[in-house]
Amino acid sequence: MSRLYMNTAPTHIRTSHSLPARHSHYKTPLPSSTIPSAKMAGTLPILDLQELQGSSSSENLREACEKWGCFRLVNHGVPVKLMSEMKSVVGELFDLPIDVKRRNVDVLSGSGYVALSSKNPLYEALGLYDMGSAAAVHKFCDQLAASPQHRETILSYAEAIHGVAMQVAAKMAESLGVVGRSDDGAGLFEGWPCQFRINKYHFQPETVGSPGVQIHTDSGFLTLLQEDESVGGLEVMDPSDAGYIPVDPVPGSFLVNLGDLATVWSNGKLRNVKHRVQCKEAAVRISIATFLLGPPRDTVVEPPPAFVDDVHPRLYRPISYDGFRELRRVTDKHAGEALQLLQGPPPAASMDQI
Ligand code: OGA
Ligand code: NI
Repeated sequence: MSRLYMNTAPTHIRTSHSLPARHSHYKTPLPSSTIPSAKMAGTLPILDLQELQGSSSSENLREACEKWGCFRLVNHGVPVKLMSEMKSVVGELFDLPIDVKRRNVDVLSGSGYVALSSKNPLYEALGLYDMGSAAAVHKFCDQLAASPQHRETILSYAEAIHGVAMQVAAKMAESLGVVGRSDDGAGLFEGWPCQFRINKYHFQPETVGSPGVQIHTDSGFLTLLQEDESVGGLEVMDPSDAGYIPVDPVPGSFLVNLGDLATVWSNGKLRNVKHRVQCKEAAVRISIATFLLGPPRDTVVEPPPAFVDDVHPRLYRPISYDGFRELRRVTDKHAGEALQLLQGPPPAASMDQI
């Protein structure tokens, strides 16, 4: 989660990768001379939620979260039909007249409509701050004068995906030894706001090879991303920080990313994965993102006792999620660097005042 940047200046930062072959239908392939070699770093972990729920071992989940900070989630229980219906609803919402889309405003700046702009000429978004609240989802639908069918799809999707976010968070806590198997891990994350954002990338022939969204980490705890099923472009930093690995979409799955707050919460154990979106082809790309952010409002993020002991002293000064989001905004640090500002003794003007 983050403010998204658009920069149409070409970058030549591309790496080779160990994931399946790229789509063969790029309209304008990148010149091969711009593709530096990179160390191979293994393939993105794939985790099956049903299997995780049924098993006492979640070692592979722990490893994915610590080493990669991201993984592909399959068998998550959200019907493929609901995912594709949601994708068509999203497409239709973006086709609404601009004055209707502008009615989508929400509690935080950037959590509602983001129009195409000269700074971000390819990127448009709609969203709401807390899709865990049915009332907030209804308000979002009211703002966009959603039809009854659209409303039903959006409500079902919000409920289903919020449930998945809570289950994944609970399993993560269990895999890290924060809660036992029989404990209610989801209770730890109850009441955490869950931001919802739908993104439309208006990729053009002349922007192929340019960033659609610049390098960033998400600010919250975890993100579930329903990528466009046919237009790729997402790239994640490999586990050895050697370069970006293109992530090909896998229809019917979600990509899970951990953000800065996961690193703070786990006292540095979980990896806040850097990622970006590159324009790979001149086609509209739609993605649907759900961000489980952090404890509500002023609540300070406390690493559970499992993460702090004599050998692992507390790394970050206490801060609320909102305070941290604001710190990222005012310092313009969106790729994980803001965490360093929470280390060491407090600066003269204490961060707590932010
Ligand atoms: C984000 C993000 C990727 C995408 O919204 O934070 O990284 O594929 N989106 O849209
Ligand atoms: Ni992101």
